[in-house]
Amino acid sequence: MIETINFITNIIKDFKPQIGLILGSGLGSLADGLDGIRIPYCEIPGFANSTVQGHKGSLVFARVNGKKCMFMQGRYHFYEGHTLQKIIFPIRLMKKIGVKTIILTNAAGGINPDFKSGDLMLISDHINFMGTNPLIGMNDETIGPRFPDMSEIYNKKLREIALNTAKKLNIELKQGVYLAATGPSYETPAEVKMYRLFGADACGMSTVPEAIAAAHAGIKVLGISCITNLAAGIQTTPLSHEEVVYTADKIKNHFKNLILGIIENI
Ligand code: HPA
Repeated sequence: MIETINFITNIIKDFKPQIGLILGSGLGSLADGLDGIRIPYCEIPGFANSTVQGHKGSLVFARVNGKKCMFMQGRYHFYEGHTLQKIIFPIRLMKKIGVKTIILTNAAGGINPDFKSGDLMLISDHINFMGTNPLIGMNDETIGPRFPDMSEIYNKKLREIALNTAKKLNIELKQGVYLAATGPSYETPAEVKMYRLFGADACGMSTVPEAIAAAHAGIKVLGISCITNLAAGIQTTPLSHEEVVYTADKIKNHFKNLILGIIENI
């Protein structure tokens, strides 16, 4: 970690990001036009390469609406074979370089019958259905407690800011519970029915490890899902990553306006 911090701070100098963002599948273009410093993951000690199409794999440091931000264009997933420790490494890095608030975004399948493809969903809470936890192993007490409280991972104040921003911008923002499984196979219709009974409104393959690590480290978390498709059994056509990236690309302007507006209001 020290090597990574030194590497990054040597490049960004006294740019101390306050807000960290992880841009999910097909959503990375948000940081494309920003004037800032770009560092490919492959050059960063301790970072693995992102292998998924629709994930660019670079860190972008830029000032947005007066706030110093650090964007991850693309994230690591458990299904790529990375350990959960590798997946949460960037969150721990963000903490060390001063990030106080994290905005996690993802592409997800809609389970709530009121949802349609292209909707944006504010994550109110999550269900960890990955069968593991990123905090398993020795606990570093300097980061957070052994048994961290998860009663309000997704910060209430930030959620209010997101809802108010969406209202002002006339962007419809749904709300719901995000369930994460490991993937990479999409769910079966039977699994989707079960997730609905569990209380899930959307499902995906990411975000939960990062949210747990951030909450553990005392970072405020906001989560936004892009409902890129309806979950298996709800939509009648087969699911594909092409559809996910296509829908994410279609709503990118809405998504960008919402996120930039939220940043302004934090
Ligand atoms: N299931 C799981 N992950 C996803 C989906 C889905 O339907 N859509 C986008 N990511």
